[in-house]
Amino acid sequence: MSHTLVIFGASGDLTSRKLIPALYKLAERGRLPGELRVIGFSRTPMSDEAWRAALAESTAKFLGARFQREAWNQFAAGIHYHPGDISQTEDFAKLAEQLDKLEGGKPTARVYYLATAPQFFEPAIEALGASGLATEEGKLNSPCRRIVIEKPFGTDLASAQRLNEVVHRFFTERQVYRIDHYLGKETVQNILVFRLANAIFEPVWNRNYVDHVQITAAEEVKVGRRGGYYDHAGVLRDMFQNHLLQLLTVTAMEAPARFNADAVRNEKVKVLEAIRPMTAVEVATNTVRAQYQGYRQEKDVAPDSQTATFADVRLDIDNWRWQGVPFYLRSGKAMGCRTTQIVIQFREPPLRLFGNGGAARQEANRLVIHIQPAEGIQLHFHTKVPNREVDTRETTLDFRFDSFYGDALPDAYERLLLDVLSGDQSLFARSDEVELAWGIIDPILTAWKMGGQPPLWQYEPGMWGPPGSSDWMQVMGRHWLDVCPVLKHVDGGESE
Ligand SMILES: NC(=O)c1ccc[n+]([C@@H]2O[C@H](COP(=O)([O-])OP(=O)(O)OC[C@H]3O[C@@H](n4cnc5c(N)ncnc54)[C@H](OP(=O)(O)O)[C@@H]3O)[C@@H](O)[C@H]2O)c1
Repeated sequence: MSHTLVIFGASGDLTSRKLIPALYKLAERGRLPGELRVIGFSRTPMSDEAWRAALAESTAKFLGARFQREAWNQFAAGIHYHPGDISQTEDFAKLAEQLDKLEGGKPTARVYYLATAPQFFEPAIEALGASGLATEEGKLNSPCRRIVIEKPFGTDLASAQRLNEVVHRFFTERQVYRIDHYLGKETVQNILVFRLANAIFEPVWNRNYVDHVQITAAEEVKVGRRGGYYDHAGVLRDMFQNHLLQLLTVTAMEAPARFNADAVRNEKVKVLEAIRPMTAVEVATNTVRAQYQGYRQEKDVAPDSQTATFADVRLDIDNWRWQGVPFYLRSGKAMGCRTTQIVIQFREPPLRLFGNGGAARQEANRLVIHIQPAEGIQLHFHTKVPNREVDTRETTLDFRFDSFYGDALPDAYERLLLDVLSGDQSLFARSDEVELAWGIIDPILTAWKMGGQPPLWQYEPGMWGPPGSSDWMQVMGRHWLDVCPVLKHVDGGESE
């Protein structure tokens, strides 16, 4: 069946930087499920040709040598532009007319992609519903209508519930695709393959062998041009409610009985339901918050801003597998390097047969799953140092996607767009999942807003957060793995 993808926010950054390059790559590799037509919708007046020319330029810029003019021209023939304002219902009536005209009466599946600022999500959904664009005929094999909603999905539990309520007035859950682009990353999907396609890890993936889990999403960049948005959102809304909790659920979930959307999402929901809610007193001890020095001088940031640009959160999962195994989540801007990684820290051996052998404290085994920018898995374990009696050293088994599979991994949006077009919801958040995630974050946001604890520390840009972050871990007898990823191996086993 052919598809029409309507992008609301056509002239925006996400469309030019992610959506169109991803669609072009899918088209170029012949991976699209049938004919695809793209219609851009935003207020900026443009002709089809002007939009195509702008997109050709931005796509060539983002893809570099991977951009092929001939393949682009073929793909771009299916791109159209429809100037319109989300707040004007008559613009949706005109859009409906244009869709009918372009589709020429052929049965065509439609996908509406909300790639615009979150305050337009509700009005766009309501206008789609009111103009009949959301309605499916309901007959067997009649073309579907799907909606893709970008992040952030709400700013707290109440707003997420309200947005879900508006969505469900016009779309059934089966039609809805809430994006968290982390789930489109090959490395995130590989966590499930690693755990569940290999029998050797399952027996140790639990409280009997795992001491704790660390999930870090460190960004090197500061807020840049996004100060206005970020100062209202802060690190908890920007990174924890979505990306970090998604990484936690794929790390902690049980194996589903089948690998389909609902079975996978049911297991993720069970993890979120098992996370112990925090009281305000517990927030004071289970979280750290900080702001990088100079944040208040950033453009569009309040000079007395209390917004955290860095946080640590300890979460406990009350179920049989994870009871007593803390999950430490951490994220921040202006940190030492860009890295997203999950560390499974195993327990120490019951007996230290080899003493310290002259070496410093012996670390327990560690599995490090690198999500980005290094993409791979490392197992840290001990080996005997040759020619010395009992000296041991930590060494690493290292798997790299790039060295094994060669080609660069596809962008997350390629996978997610393909799944939307093919109707696979596995990698998209369900309404209950989003609301449960907000239910975990909301009490922290409230406690931070109400009380003075924990204090808002300052940290120097380029560091791993404030010194209070490592002190906090130390009090619990643990320490962060503060290691920047090594991106490439060079000959001789040395790395750059
Ligand atoms: N940019 C990224 O890398 C990125 C990454 C992840 C998620 N996201 C999410 O993606 C969404 C879009 O982000 P963005 O960075 O692309 O924003 P952006 O660059 O500000 O683009 C916003 C788009 O919305 C359109 N728009 C604004 N008001 C409108 C109205 N009344 N009617 C119709 N169109 C309207 C704008 O076009 P006109 O002014 O021409 O109307 C523009 O095309 C956000 O929800 C963001 O959180 C973005």
